[in-house]
Amino acid sequence: MDKTTPNHTQTVSGWAAHDSSGKITPFTFQRRENGANDVTIQILYCGICHTDLHYAKNDWGITMYPVVPGHEIVGVITKVGSNVKGFKEGDRAGVGCLAATCLDCEYCNTHQENYCQQLQFTYNGLFWDGTITYGGYSHMIVADYRYVVHIPEKLNMEGAAPLLCAGITVFSPMKDHGLVESGGKRIGVVGLGGLGHMAVKFGKAFGHHVTVISRSADKEWEAKHRLGADEFIVSSEQKQMEGGKKTMDFILDTVSGQHSLLPLLELLKINGTLFIVGAPSQPLELPAFPLIFGKRSVKGGIIGGIKETQEMLYLCGKHNITCDTELIRPDQINDAMHRLANNDVRYRFVIDIASSSSQPPCSS
Ligand SMILES: NC(=O)c1ccc[n+]([C@@H]2O[C@H](COP(=O)([O-])OP(=O)(O)OC[C@H]3O[C@@H](n4cnc5c(N)ncnc54)[C@H](OP(=O)(O)O)[C@@H]3O)[C@@H](O)[C@H]2O)c1
Ligand SMILES: [Zn+2]
Ligand SMILES: [Zn+2]
Repeated sequence: MDKTTPNHTQTVSGWAAHDSSGKITPFTFQRRENGANDVTIQILYCGICHTDLHYAKNDWGITMYPVVPGHEIVGVITKVGSNVKGFKEGDRAGVGCLAATCLDCEYCNTHQENYCQQLQFTYNGLFWDGTITYGGYSHMIVADYRYVVHIPEKLNMEGAAPLLCAGITVFSPMKDHGLVESGGKRIGVVGLGGLGHMAVKFGKAFGHHVTVISRSADKEWEAKHRLGADEFIVSSEQKQMEGGKKTMDFILDTVSGQHSLLPLLELLKINGTLFIVGAPSQPLELPAFPLIFGKRSVKGGIIGGIKETQEMLYLCGKHNITCDTELIRPDQINDAMHRLANNDVRYRFVIDIASSSSQPPCSS
């Protein structure tokens, strides 16, 4: 695997993890020239997704070091290739998890490119030219315009960045289950982190009754009073879990670590769905009985398609929905990751990339 090709002429400064300690340090690397289908984006903000932490620490055993994480990227377009449609210099743009897909399979042809078999990610992926992709913990990115979205003027850039992954990952299953167009369902959200807090915001904006299921009792006040959740269940409280049994139509499980599915399945009504988006490194045990006796389903999904991501961003513009963020400088990434691992963030760290003045945005 090549790290660069001859057209990788642009030197970019960023931040990378080099081994499974996950420690992030400054890292200079090469990106490709802006091709005919590409836009170049000067990155302003990048969210820290728990997936970045999984990759930095090689939790899933698939990390290609050095890894430059970051797939919640927003910035301003500085260059536009000759084939690019719909974007111009100066536009506010976003890049999420997708860097490349085949563009011609049944999934690519139906705006579900996130399920393309040839899907390559924004970092730790292999681009069409065979080079390893590097993500948004950097000053500049070159992206194929077919995986780039517009950020509505109404949204602040910092709060919009995590929509590119956390937002779309919970929006897509909600849309798939008819929860965006009409309200009135009872929705559970398991794990109140980056993904979970967005699920609560969407659930309320779309008119549902939302219950947070959390292991952190200290998140209850905020969940109810700031995010608007209707109910809060502390998962370790047997009585509260009992009270929630068979009350929910749909549960989104955003938990990043090991946990038991049985008590969550029992919260579902007959015919309810448990939708898993969290990605623990070890398999979760799936008990048959709550499925059999409740005609319940367990499903999973990865992010969403680009068209859907754009639709979500426009909806967020309309409802003025952004993520709750804590802004950090690049030299605070390690501290932020440590706090993320310890469940100490409300609810997404976002890196103020432009605050790092030690180098120009990019140079040739
Ligand atoms: N499917 C996809 O496309 C996709 C996209 C993005 C991220 N992900 C994955 O989704 C997961 C969540 O990402 P995130 O960025 O939202 O992470 P996060 O901000 O760390 O939130 C995860 C939340 O889950 C709960 N939790 C964590 N470990 C737990 C455990 N062992 N048992 C019970 N609850 C636990 C905590 O909430 P409480 O304190 O409320 O319990 C925590 O705040 C990660 O695994 C990430 O890789 C998947
Ligand atoms: Zn992510
Ligand atoms: Zn495809």
